[in-house]
Amino acid sequence: MGKWGLLLLLVVFLLSSGSTRCTVTYDRKAIVINGERRLLFSGSIHHPRSTPEMWEDLIHKAKEGGLDVIETYVFWNGHEPSPGNYNFEGRYDLVRFVKTIQRAGLYAHLRIGPYICGEWNFGGFPVWLKFVPGISFRSDNEPFKMAMKGFTEKIVNLMKSHNLFESQGGPIILSQIENEYGPQAKMLGASGYNYVNWAAKMAVETGTGVPWVMCKEEDAPDPVINTCNGFYCDKFTPNQPYKPEIWTEAWSGWFTEFGGPIYQRPVQDLAFAVAKFIQKGGSFVNYYMYHGGTNFGRTAGGPFISTSYDYDAPIDEYGLIRQPKYDHLKELHRAVKLCERAIVSTDPTMTSLGGLQQAYEYSSGTGECAAFLSNYDTKSPARVMFNNMHYNLPPWSISILPDCRNVVFNTAKVGVQTSQMEMLPINAEMYAWETYNEDISALGGSSSFTSFGLLEQVNVTRDTSDYLWYQTSVEIGSSESFLHRGQLPTLIVQSTGHALHVFINGQLSGSAFGTRQNRRFTFRGKVNLQAGTNKISLLSVAVGLPNVGGHFETWNTGILGPVALHGLDQGKWDLTWAKWTYQVGLKGEYTNLMYTNGISPVDWMQGSLIAQKQQPLTWHKANFYAPNGNEPLALDMSSMGKGQIWINGQSLGRYWTAYANGNCNGCSYAGPFKPQKCQLGCGQPTQRWYHVPRSWLKPAENLLVVFEELGGDPTRISLVKRSVSTVCADVAEIHPSIKNWEIQSYGGPKDPPKPKLHLHCGPGQSISSIKFASFGTPLGTCGSFQQGPCHALSSYSVLQKRCIGQRRCSVAISNTNFGDPCPNIVKRLSVEATCAPSQWH
Ligand code: GAL
Repeated sequence: MGKWGLLLLLVVFLLSSGSTRCTVTYDRKAIVINGERRLLFSGSIHHPRSTPEMWEDLIHKAKEGGLDVIETYVFWNGHEPSPGNYNFEGRYDLVRFVKTIQRAGLYAHLRIGPYICGEWNFGGFPVWLKFVPGISFRSDNEPFKMAMKGFTEKIVNLMKSHNLFESQGGPIILSQIENEYGPQAKMLGASGYNYVNWAAKMAVETGTGVPWVMCKEEDAPDPVINTCNGFYCDKFTPNQPYKPEIWTEAWSGWFTEFGGPIYQRPVQDLAFAVAKFIQKGGSFVNYYMYHGGTNFGRTAGGPFISTSYDYDAPIDEYGLIRQPKYDHLKELHRAVKLCERAIVSTDPTMTSLGGLQQAYEYSSGTGECAAFLSNYDTKSPARVMFNNMHYNLPPWSISILPDCRNVVFNTAKVGVQTSQMEMLPINAEMYAWETYNEDISALGGSSSFTSFGLLEQVNVTRDTSDYLWYQTSVEIGSSESFLHRGQLPTLIVQSTGHALHVFINGQLSGSAFGTRQNRRFTFRGKVNLQAGTNKISLLSVAVGLPNVGGHFETWNTGILGPVALHGLDQGKWDLTWAKWTYQVGLKGEYTNLMYTNGISPVDWMQGSLIAQKQQPLTWHKANFYAPNGNEPLALDMSSMGKGQIWINGQSLGRYWTAYANGNCNGCSYAGPFKPQKCQLGCGQPTQRWYHVPRSWLKPAENLLVVFEELGGDPTRISLVKRSVSTVCADVAEIHPSIKNWEIQSYGGPKDPPKPKLHLHCGPGQSISSIKFASFGTPLGTCGSFQQGPCHALSSYSVLQKRCIGQRRCSVAISNTNFGDPCPNIVKRLSVEATCAPSQWH
């Protein structure tokens, strides 16, 4: 082969070797990819919080929403369930997840941790780590550091072996080590400082070729970038002038706990916070969460984190788009991207436009100019003057001007569609109900053991089950005076968490629960003891291991006492050091009742015989057919108490019909946000519906297994489907007399195009009716629109003609369409429409 042949071969090799290798570095302005500074929007989608079958759609929706990057944590306890035994399959198929991001043409941020917090069981640490001799978590401790290094390298090498770092032509542009170590480091002093330095060095030495970050860690040593987490990050400055401003967790909502309300974050405030970060030079924003998803199985952290991790994110738990959050942020991203070149090439100049108003202007030498006009007043709109033009700013809002003249977006002005979701009953009957009662008398069998005194729960269960039985016997003499007086003795049990059911001679006597803030609690109750031998059986229940803090090896769960009987002739009878029999887990668990549909290791009873009796500690099972269609599915568990659910052997998670305690008095988007500000669902079960991934179902003979701790009516459990029920839109006409940002948002005062109102239903649906339509001066908001003093009579017929039977429709807001109901008055069009499955008409 000649010289040219060789050259040709080389060219063919280079072309065929796939994606190009890129460099990722950073400077004071931004992350620099292949020599170019980038302003990037990112979103958290945690791979085990959805199913692999959902990933592509979620990532595609994220891309459509204007994201450049997908962020995920790496879940150590999911990936290494026992030492050296790795799991990268199913929901833990990290390589598939990152490759799905790559195929979508997006970048990835891999937050390895391996401590991740994340409302995830034990903060992501495998529970076996607690039993490594001499370990001290998240500190300058050899056994801990060795394990952390081992796992970090395992992950980095796995990614490298699939060429997944951007330096290898892959999508990963950033990685995180540790998570919010700052507060810990402060507590630990020198040892914390040593650990941070060690962690940074260890991470950098893995040689990924892309930058590392540490969030909420002011002391992040070079070259690691310290980043910000919070509801707002505009006050954040990196610890060195040559590092960019990165916001790793812009909280899009907040997590829920059983017994608490749903926390929502208004999108106007989220958009305001993001614009405020960008206007002063921030160049990377990650929404935590963009899709929150579900804490399947026993992965929820705790205690008491709910199974739903919806987070009020732009994509809801079920993978459906949440409006107006999703589209309003999409418009924000589009507006900011128009400013990208100006923002990354220069620094802003800030000028005051009033007491609570400012302008940030990016004006580069090469003619690019972008400006942000902000009004921090929480009550009043402001009229400001900028570059000789007037602009009106709603309260607590920022307008974006990608050419320093025309407003293309204002954070408080939500022009996009709102949609409301509902859970629709479906005809998928559960049949062949059967029931099995946990056999308390079986305690003391081969898998149980005895010990004098009370043992810490996780040391015994190693978290293989939520449940640990503590059982002891007491002899009551027939001469005990309470037997004759009828004054029952009192049992007092001190628990370190999280829940407790007390059984006396096999009968449920009472329950007690801790809270997330205070895991310790005391059970105090009258107990029905008889003359002779009495069995006191205490079922201690873990509801997710805590996920925040340091020194995980020191945390206690379960009954540590004292345990005592009061009101006997001898006074107090302390049982703390009595002989206790221990049993890890339930019989239904260790005989694998949730997996078997055929020959059963236990005797099930026909459902009809027990339906009326609401027994505690009961297993229920039934069969059902998969419903047609592709809407997301859920189980309505409102007829039940507390327990766990499996479908075809897959755990949907813990359920608990705990009622939400809170203050749901409504909220305004304006003013600093905290989760308590905007609560929903007070007085209702925190979580009534439990996501059933479609991919877990077969066409027929699906097996539902429920374990109920307290008692409930399983025959009222039903499948529902989640779909869009109503959509609303509310758009103002542009009137030549308004010389404000509304005009300019449509390209300047000269002949602005007519704005349009858009409506669209979910997949497989179309608009079936127009519940409200008014072109004029309508009042109210979605769900409670009313006609105002001015109303075009044609409003309904125009909308009906354009929209009924369509999946999406749009109508121009103009007098030509409706006739002018009130000349010289600025009008708007408000519409509420119903969506229904397409086949209905
Ligand atoms: C952060 C933490 C996240 C998550 C979040 C609350 O402090 O880094 O992992 O726990 O709080 O949802």
